[in-house]
Amino acid sequence: MLLNGKVAIVTGGGSGIGMASARALGREGASVAIFDRDAQSAKQIADELAAQGCEALALGIDVSCEDDVGAGIAKTLAKFGKIDILQNNAGIAVRHPVTEEDEANWDKCMAVNLKSVFLCSKHAIPHMLNPGGSIVNMASVTGIVGVRNRSAYSASKGAIVALTRNMALDYARFQIRVNCVCPGFTRTPLIKGLLADPEKERRLVATHPLGRLGTPEDVANAIVFLASDLSSWITGQALVVDGGFGVGAYEDI
Ligand SMILES: NC(=O)c1ccc[n+]([C@@H]2O[C@H](COP(=O)([O-])OP(=O)(O)OC[C@H]3O[C@@H](n4cnc5c(N)ncnc54)[C@H](O)[C@@H]3O)[C@@H](O)[C@H]2O)c1
Repeated sequence: MLLNGKVAIVTGGGSGIGMASARALGREGASVAIFDRDAQSAKQIADELAAQGCEALALGIDVSCEDDVGAGIAKTLAKFGKIDILQNNAGIAVRHPVTEEDEANWDKCMAVNLKSVFLCSKHAIPHMLNPGGSIVNMASVTGIVGVRNRSAYSASKGAIVALTRNMALDYARFQIRVNCVCPGFTRTPLIKGLLADPEKERRLVATHPLGRLGTPEDVANAIVFLASDLSSWITGQALVVDGGFGVGAYEDI
């Protein structure tokens, strides 16, 4: 097992990619604290992990709220005594061009997707300094290439790529590695609106050269790699996990 004895926090671990990576980290031997604003979903996955012999903690937390985050880190330390891995995964999708975006939506997207990475890292890192650890931030391929109608969302994800590089440099001397993953379109509740229309789904699949959308497990595998010592000399990187979506124009022109 790659993560025996490690303690991991997964934000947004109650659904989708976070749920798959909580399972994958647990399977590799980590104890897992799940921070999710949906306390019920967090508890469900924690119970499932516990039933498989993995130590797990479920906390109903809004990761865009500093008081909640501080309390969550304190409870994690009280239960597990340390933090080795922080997976900043929680996020929401907002889909408008700038002229159709409203200020409240923009602010919410920035708070949940981006400010949460700042808050969770701010409160976890002081407990990771000795002997170090791994932070895996959730960006998106939309933080690397343009995708229409994603103004606030892609801005939040592009900022996560930049923040990842900054944090990697700031904490390298403490042996804390900081990387991010940039998934393409992945089958989770986040994109259920897009998948509800079969024609839209067909067009979406066609934009991924490998011929399918991602599964949460495709992304979780990359997260386990970045969380574990398999990536021990990798920091500050954005690992694109997207079936080729962001490589370039795929139409035969
Ligand atoms: N699904 C995709 O196509 C895709 C692609 C690229 C990146 N991502 C990113 O992956 C991450 C996970 O998305 P997903 O697709 O699994 O979505 P999801 O909706 O299935 O899961 C998101 C989880 O985050 C939780 N959450 C939302 N706001 C929160 C808050 N304020 N505090 C705590 N928890 C909160 C939700 O309750 C939910 O459990 C997001 O950051 C998303 O932007 C997803």
